[in-house]
Order: sequence, then C-alpha cells, then structure tokens
Amino acid sequence: MSKEEELSANPPFDLIILGASGFTGKYVVREALKFLNTPSSPLKSVALAGRNPAKLAQALQWATRPHPPPPIAILTADTTDSQSLHRLCTQTKLILNCVGPFRLYGEPVVAACVDSGCDYLDICGEPEFMERMETKYHEKALETGSLVISACGFDSVPAELGLIFNSRQWVAPAVPNSVEAYLSLESERRIVGNFGTFESAVLGVANADKLQELRRSRPRRARPVIPGPPPPKGSLIEHQKKIGLWAVKLPSADPIVVRRTLALLTENPQGLLGVNENPELTETRKAFWSTVKPAHFGVKIGSKSLLGVLRFITVGMFIGLLGKTAVGRWLLLNFPSVFSLGWFRKKGPSEDEVQSASFKMWFVGRGFSDNRLASQGNTKPDLEIITRVMGPEIGYLTTPIILLQCAPILLGQRDSLPKGGVYPPGIIFGPTDLQKRIQENGISFDIISKSNLPS
Ligand SMILES: NC(=O)c1ccc[n+]([C@@H]2O[C@H](COP(=O)([O-])OP(=O)(O)OC[C@H]3O[C@@H](n4cnc5c(N)ncnc54)[C@H](OP(=O)(O)O)[C@@H]3O)[C@@H](O)[C@H]2O)c1
Repeated sequence: MSKEEELSANPPFDLIILGASGFTGKYVVREALKFLNTPSSPLKSVALAGRNPAKLAQALQWATRPHPPPPIAILTADTTDSQSLHRLCTQTKLILNCVGPFRLYGEPVVAACVDSGCDYLDICGEPEFMERMETKYHEKALETGSLVISACGFDSVPAELGLIFNSRQWVAPAVPNSVEAYLSLESERRIVGNFGTFESAVLGVANADKLQELRRSRPRRARPVIPGPPPPKGSLIEHQKKIGLWAVKLPSADPIVVRRTLALLTENPQGLLGVNENPELTETRKAFWSTVKPAHFGVKIGSKSLLGVLRFITVGMFIGLLGKTAVGRWLLLNFPSVFSLGWFRKKGPSEDEVQSASFKMWFVGRGFSDNRLASQGNTKPDLEIITRVMGPEIGYLTTPIILLQCAPILLGQRDSLPKGGVYPPGIIFGPTDLQKRIQENGISFDIISKSNLPS
C-alpha cells in the first residue's frame, strides 16, 4: 500500500474546514470546536485548511478567545492547486467548504472530493454552481462513493426542512397545493452581511443565463404531481396580514433547491437507498417520505413596513440591472455598501450586529381539506396551514449551526445515506435527525395555525 493509500484508508481528521480564514469560515470553526469536547460526538478531530496559514491561525485564535487555541492542525491548500486539494482529501473523510463565491472557486474542490471518494458539504447559495456540479460530477460521485451536498447553510436547509415540515402537517385526505415562505430578518441593531455573500449574489445575476443554458442541455427533471392548479402570480408587493408583513419575491436559491429535492422525490418516492442501511432504517425512510407531499414553493422577503419592502426592491434592482454588465458589476463590487443601502459591508458585521440579529421564516401552506376537492376541479384552496422556522442571525450563526449538524450525520450515520452522488440537502437529510439536531441548537420549528379559507 502506498503512503497516500494508507492515509486514505485511515485519514487522520474526521473533517477539514476549507476556507476557515474567511468571515463565515471563522464562525464555522467556532461552532466545530464545540464538538471536540463532547464525548458522544462522532467528530473527534478537525483540521483547518486554506491558502494562508497565518490567517488560519488568526481565525483559530479568534474562534477560541479568550482561551488559548487548542492544538489544531493547519493545512495549506489553494483551490488553484489541485494537488493540494487531493492531498486534503487523503487526510479526511469529509470536507466542509467555506470558500466562495463557489462559481469562482468551488469546482476544483468538488472535483478533488469526487475523484478521491471523500464526502463534501458546503454553504453555497448559488444555483448555477450547484446544478453544474450535479450535471458534471453526479455519475462519477456515485461510482467513487463521494457524497456531495451543497447549500447546507441558511441557504437552503431552513427552506428544505421548513417545506417538508409544513407538508407533513397535511394529514390525509388533506393535501397542500402551495407553500409560500416569508422571510423576515430582525435585529435591534443594523442587519449587515459580509462582502462574500454580496459578491456571490452579484455573480449569480451575471450567470443567470448560464443556468438556463445548462438546463436546456440536459434531460428534463421529473415534475411532482401537485393537486389543483398552480397558485396565481399575485401582485409585486403583497401584504400578509396574518403574519404582519409586507413582502416581495426573493430570488434566492431556496425555491430552486427545494424543486430539485421534490424532483428527486418524484423519481424516488421512497427516498434514496442508504449504502448499508438495515431493514429498520429502510422502513423509517419509507414511512417518512410517505408523509411528505409536494407543493408549489416560493420565497418572499418581508418587512413590517411598506418602506422596508421598497428598500428591498431598490437593492434588488441595483443588483439585477447592474449585475448584468461588467461596468455595473465593477460598481456593485467596489461600492457594496452604497448599492446594498448598507446591508453588505466589505468588512462584514460586527460581533454585536451578528449576535443581535435573528430570522423568522413563515411557511404559509394553502391546499385542500380533501384531495377529492382538487380532483373534482375545485381550483380554490379551502385550508391554510401556517408553520414557522425561527433562529439566530442567518449567515454567521444559523449557517455554521446547520453545517455542523449536517457533518456529524455524515460521520456517524453514513450507512443510512446513499453511497455517493451530488444532491440537494433535503433529499439526504429529510429522513435523518437533522431537524431535531438544529432544534436542539436554537432553530425552532412550530405550527402556528390551521384554518379554513373563505370560499
Ligand atoms: N448558505 C448561506 O446561507 C451562507 C452564509 C454565509 C456565507 N455563505 C457563502 O460563503 C461564501 C464565503 O463567504 P464569506 O463572507 O465568508 O467570504 P470571505 O470572507 O471572502 O471568505 C472567503 C474564504 O475563501 C478563501 N479563499 C479565497 N480564494 C481561495 C483560494 N484560491 N484557495 C483557498 N482559499 C481561498 C479565503 O481565504 P483567505 O482568507 O486566504 O483570503 C477565505 O477563507 C460565499 O460564497 C457566501 O455566499 C453562504
């Protein structure tokens, strides 16, 4: 056995955090370190990786303050050097990738993981990247046994699990027709995001055409059968009185990721077979998916005031229009604070700003109290079920919590997950205990109301 093969068979680290020196990366490190002192955790050894060892050491110091940093390995890897990425893959079972924008830096990391059979999770919110990785690497990942799951952060786990949670409240003969998620970001201080997320959003606009091109170039995905007609488009600005929000469509990755999960579920109505699952787990998986019903899904961003929504529209227009040209992108990326009306800053939010922020995501499900109503040609839903997912600040608290709850599932429950492949998070983590885990870490799932709609 060569030294590399020996390492691969018995890697020294349970997981490696790549991009640990980034704004999000350092919060991910802080979350990961909590597990090292938990005896029951399958996460025993972590290493940090990136292109600048001094910055990685600083991130480690930041994450452990006021205590001195524990002896954690720091590994050098650059996404432009595929050998360095392959070396990482021989040293671990799982890479958590925090290097973004993913469309610029992500592919070599996925390629190295798929090549070597290493598992991969990331916090990407860029649909074009995710679908391109699926198209290019799924078949090979199936072969090599590498599980590649993007969007394991605020994008898009609350949406995926939140939709599943709402859909499971529809007990037969009731069926959902549509679920609209309303995101409300709250804070006693300013709501601020780091430049990395802004840059990813701007590049997402620039690549919107590429996603359409990619979709046209491959076979169509299965479409779920949803009772009743699609919901009407509605007006640009909506006032949702029941939850007290004005809202406008949010062009985030969430609906796209959820649709991929629903397409996979349509193709595999009992979910995906675990690589080595026992009969009990098979039954649990089948029973779980039998309770999930597909629905049309969209996301809106909400504000308590109409003015707040007008601010969202203004920023959306800046990004949507300027993001399409090179000069516009230059303006956006050089003056993020101006064009995001203060929501994104080059140096990111302060710790106080992070700590004082939170989110609520309301899932307003509309459907039929009896499936037969839809099949008899009734077009108007008569039942509404509202659920809510709620948690701390989205980018730097909720995202690390989710990522670090997905990771131990890959480490500790690998037999019940597919051998390999490129997947969205919902289809993989839906039947696992991920919801319970993130609930135990401050992200709640609640049923708010169930009511009849006027005819
Ligand atoms: N899913 C979600 O909800 C969510 C939440 C938060 C963030 N994100 C995403 O996470 C990504 C990172 O955001 P951020 O704000 O943390 O950005 P950031 O502060 O700019 O961090 C980027 C990281 O990537 C590293 N990097 C850049 N080029 C590299 C290369 N060639 N080789 C190795 N490492 C490289 C940087 O290393 P250096 O330190 O050496 O520069 C840094 O560690 C973005 O795509 C953002 O959209 C998603």
